[in-house]
Amino acid sequence: MCGIVGIISNEPAAAQAIEALKRLEYRGYDSSGVASLSSDGRIERLRAEGKLKNLAAKLNANPLFGHIAIGHTRWATHGRPTEDNAHPHATERVAVVHNGIIENFRELRAEFEKDGVKFSSETDTEAVLHLVDRALQKSGDPTKAIAEVLPRLKGAFALGFVFSGHDNLLIGARQGAPLAVGHGEGEMYLGSDALALAPFTDTVTYLEEGDWVVLSREGVTIHDRTNTIVKRAKQKSGAGAFLVDKGNHRHFMAKEIAEQPEVVGRTLAHYIDMNAGRVHLPVTLPFDWNKLTRITITACGTASYAGHVAKYWFEQIARLPVEVDVASEFRYREAPLLDSGLAIFISQSGETADTLAGLRYAKAQGQFILSVVNVPTSSIARESDVVIPTLAGPEIGVASTKAFTCQLTALACLALAAGRARGTLSEADEQALVSDLVAVPALMVEALKSEAHIEHVAHDMAKAKDVLYLGRGTSYPLALEGALKLKEISYIHAEAYAAGELKHGPIALIDEDLPVIVIAPHDPLYEKTVSNMQEVAARGGRIILISDREGLHEAGLKTLAGIELPKMNPRFAPIVYSVPVQLLAYHAAVALGKDVDQPRNLAKSVTVE
Ligand code: AGP
Repeated sequence: MCGIVGIISNEPAAAQAIEALKRLEYRGYDSSGVASLSSDGRIERLRAEGKLKNLAAKLNANPLFGHIAIGHTRWATHGRPTEDNAHPHATERVAVVHNGIIENFRELRAEFEKDGVKFSSETDTEAVLHLVDRALQKSGDPTKAIAEVLPRLKGAFALGFVFSGHDNLLIGARQGAPLAVGHGEGEMYLGSDALALAPFTDTVTYLEEGDWVVLSREGVTIHDRTNTIVKRAKQKSGAGAFLVDKGNHRHFMAKEIAEQPEVVGRTLAHYIDMNAGRVHLPVTLPFDWNKLTRITITACGTASYAGHVAKYWFEQIARLPVEVDVASEFRYREAPLLDSGLAIFISQSGETADTLAGLRYAKAQGQFILSVVNVPTSSIARESDVVIPTLAGPEIGVASTKAFTCQLTALACLALAAGRARGTLSEADEQALVSDLVAVPALMVEALKSEAHIEHVAHDMAKAKDVLYLGRGTSYPLALEGALKLKEISYIHAEAYAAGELKHGPIALIDEDLPVIVIAPHDPLYEKTVSNMQEVAARGGRIILISDREGLHEAGLKTLAGIELPKMNPRFAPIVYSVPVQLLAYHAAVALGKDVDQPRNLAKSVTVE
């Protein structure tokens, strides 16, 4: 949701803070700011609306020379994205940056306004600032002040503080939002994730729930929620290993779409014994597939569509009933979960608040918790019984692409493992399906070769006000994903339906102005989908059919356009058919001049409910 950094350095720290914030801008980018200490210990602050480059310009014009700094890039939760609401928030004594939501900020704010304190912003964060300031006035001791204030805060937050007159003291705290400590040579760092710290160090300590930390150039003291001093492991983050730049692509999203054959291949290699041609999960599962009566899958957005696809695979291959729900509903509908059932949580960031809350609900219901995440050190991973990492590498574009196809890949391997364990999949059938899976990266390379044609179709589609996506079977959740991709980066309204549902209402939408994207590999459901397409064509609908050569040929329709994909086992079509779905959205958004990597109103990781 937002990104926070803190740096105690031996050189001007504000510029370094901005360097770190660049790696966090994917978490939110509607305003940003830095605070540092002047040579005489006063708090100096710069803030700017809009992108980080606006703050960098301000810093160039008004350099800050302090060797300690905190920084923040914001996705607005409370208060409009204005400079007044930008972090850091500061009094003369203390400055604070915050990621998350302070749920009891109204009562805290009222407490101060009753005493005549004037708030200069609409944010929940400012309530924290005044609490710490008041405690400082009482004790004069920043560590004591923080220890006194933290228990009063409700909600999910990560915080960073600097204090006037203390140029060798940085304090951070985490409760429900990630925070990592970076260990340097005579320097120490604080960051929302290891990616932010990668320019300075790959030796990090991930704070646990309720931890708060006191940093100085000499080292770190970590307190748990009872204020007991604790040890937390130092580890190599590996974040620096992945190049976080666009290479020769115009956008991160374009790079991440193009990377898919490689990262899907890497994920396959992690879960398949290529010599034996069989699935080999490199983890010990804490449950017996044969004793499971049902799987629940919970996630948000694109990750939930991966879960929907996996539902078909688990049910068809392993004969395991699966229930899928979006995390924001799952916890609140109080789903009754059978004892020792398996609950799967899918999340690229591993920090999505709704998904993490759903995980905790399921854990409290005695479920085995398995998470499919792209960040193995994330909160969701750390609270799972078993983690199935997707090896997609950092995904910077807000619209998820390579993480989605890697989620599908990992889930497909899980479904095969379940089928083999439950005896619903013979060894020969498993080997056949494994070889179909292993062929997927090469098929994605083929699909990427149609980009120029897809771009042409997308430019035409970009003129539409509304777009409809249709699919059957595993193409239905892919249609849902296609509609989301288009919406979130081009801002064109789009909906998706199970193709068979069209005649139950949505067909009223069909006219010559409505592009209808039909996702239909030549599979057992293809004939059914063709009849749905004929219903659309008969009403003047403009069809864009995504299929293989046979499917395009047999459609027998003057479709608006056909996008041909290579012949493949339709079982795993969603992984390969994601490529044209992503490229259609990408090129429509580019044609419309949208900010593809950082679309309006969005953030890469929604760490508030
Ligand atoms: C996907 O393109 C969106 N950015 C969004 O739906 C995202 O998938 C969702 O917020 C879940 O995020 P997560 O995978 O990090 O949990």
